[in-house]
Amino acid sequence: MTPFGLDLDISVSIPLIWLSSLIVLILCYNYLVKEPWINLPPGPPALPLIGSLPFLGLDIREPLRRMSSRYGDVFTIYLGSKRVVVLNGYDVIKEAFVINERVFSGRPPIYLLRQITDGYGITSTHGSFWSEQRSHVMRVLHDFGFGRPELEERILDEIRFFVPELRKQINEPLDPQLVIQKSVANTMARITFGKRMNYNNPAFVNYLRMMNRSIELLGNNGIITLFPFLRYLPGDLFRIKRLRQDIQYLNSEYERLIEEHKLAVMYGQESADFITVYLNKINEEKDKQMTSFTEKQLRGIIMELFAAGSEGTSTTLTWAIIYMSLNQDIQSRCRAEIDAAIGRDEIPRMQHRPQLSFTEACIMETQRLADVVPLGIPHAATEDVSFRGYFIPKSTMILPNLYSVHMDPKLWPEPDHFKPERFLDDDGKVIRRAELIPFSVGGRLCLGESLAKMELFLYFSVMIQNFQFHLAPGYPVPDTQGKLALTNIPKPFHVLIESR
Ligand code: HEM
Repeated sequence: MTPFGLDLDISVSIPLIWLSSLIVLILCYNYLVKEPWINLPPGPPALPLIGSLPFLGLDIREPLRRMSSRYGDVFTIYLGSKRVVVLNGYDVIKEAFVINERVFSGRPPIYLLRQITDGYGITSTHGSFWSEQRSHVMRVLHDFGFGRPELEERILDEIRFFVPELRKQINEPLDPQLVIQKSVANTMARITFGKRMNYNNPAFVNYLRMMNRSIELLGNNGIITLFPFLRYLPGDLFRIKRLRQDIQYLNSEYERLIEEHKLAVMYGQESADFITVYLNKINEEKDKQMTSFTEKQLRGIIMELFAAGSEGTSTTLTWAIIYMSLNQDIQSRCRAEIDAAIGRDEIPRMQHRPQLSFTEACIMETQRLADVVPLGIPHAATEDVSFRGYFIPKSTMILPNLYSVHMDPKLWPEPDHFKPERFLDDDGKVIRRAELIPFSVGGRLCLGESLAKMELFLYFSVMIQNFQFHLAPGYPVPDTQGKLALTNIPKPFHVLIESR
């Protein structure tokens, strides 16, 4: 008998004690982790060790949308014990990344990204190292024609190989992802080391496979980012050993390329490519005691230019094929516009863009709806900051939810529908809407934006000019819900390509 005259069964009271201890633990943990005395943005509860993970699921886009309607445009989640402030909506992201650019342009340490870049390159660096390297790379790429017509020739040279390659596969069900990726990666190869690779070269195919695996792992393996110690478990459950082997192989390839270029420079046979120009800069800086220009840094940049330079563009083009196959009327309207402006024999060029408003609107709508990098790349606060009435401590991870912008029904009525007309005025001329931000905004804006835009226009209009894309009979209709890794990748699918 208990003091209150209640007869408690021991088998019931022990779970009760456990349950109440757990609740107390969670409440204490929440109190300590969420530090209510510093006015952080609100957010869902944080559980010990796993933080907000149970509220997020595998594809976090929709859960984040629901949280935003509950907690507002600026809210906090916890990945494990790591605090992350999520920014939603165009105005908020612009206010942080453009108006408060200096404070929000940091990069947090991301375990897997560091495994890939070894801490070098542009994407995972920050501060003065990052700004010096980013400005230099931008300058060199500008000299190679970024943002200028010279670049167009390099892209068209590659497209001249791409069209016959696609033509080989007409009238057969085809998943076009790999062939597009090979071609786009070749444009980057021409810029970086002055050569293209044969589409059937097994080393090239193997190289792309490794790169894809690394990108997929980077986006899918959040658990290892939260708990890096799990990599010590026996076996290779999280595929980290595999990743390391792949990266080691890729790095040795880049080192070989760098050595080849050094020899070429020595024998006066240098080619006009990114590696040569960067090596000259290393040479210029060699007597300085402190310099950020090193061969390791060059290796890191090559890795990034290839990965970032082929992934975003080829994924967007693949989505464009899916949307065209699903919307035959829109595809026909694009083709009619191209036929009227250019005909079938001349290759589309940037100078034709003003006459191809509907085609351009289709590319913009593809970028909006496919939302290829829906959560951008995380930033970090470089100092304590007050933002929208909240306090955000230094080093907090900042996640720009670009998906919340591109799927905002106030900006884009019926956001799930493919409607190129959103980007056209009453006279059928293109409207460039500031709220379309697939490359993000501010000081960390995608470094390859001008190359990507040119590639998207040239590849897309050439494909529509030369081929008709249909749903493949006997195959499932392509899924418009992508697989979210670092990028929003289409699930494997087949279309039928008809030559004109
Ligand atoms: C349609 C194609 C592409 C899309 C949608 C895209 C998107 C993005 C996004 C959202 C970011 C993150 C920006 C931020 O941190 O706020 C980014 C960064 C970056 N992108 Fe792209 N990108 C594309 C193509 C390219 C190309 C072609 C290149 C290579 C020339 C490239 C190189 C980079 C680099 C190096 C960064 C890191 C910039 C930094 O940290 O300062 N991207 N991109």
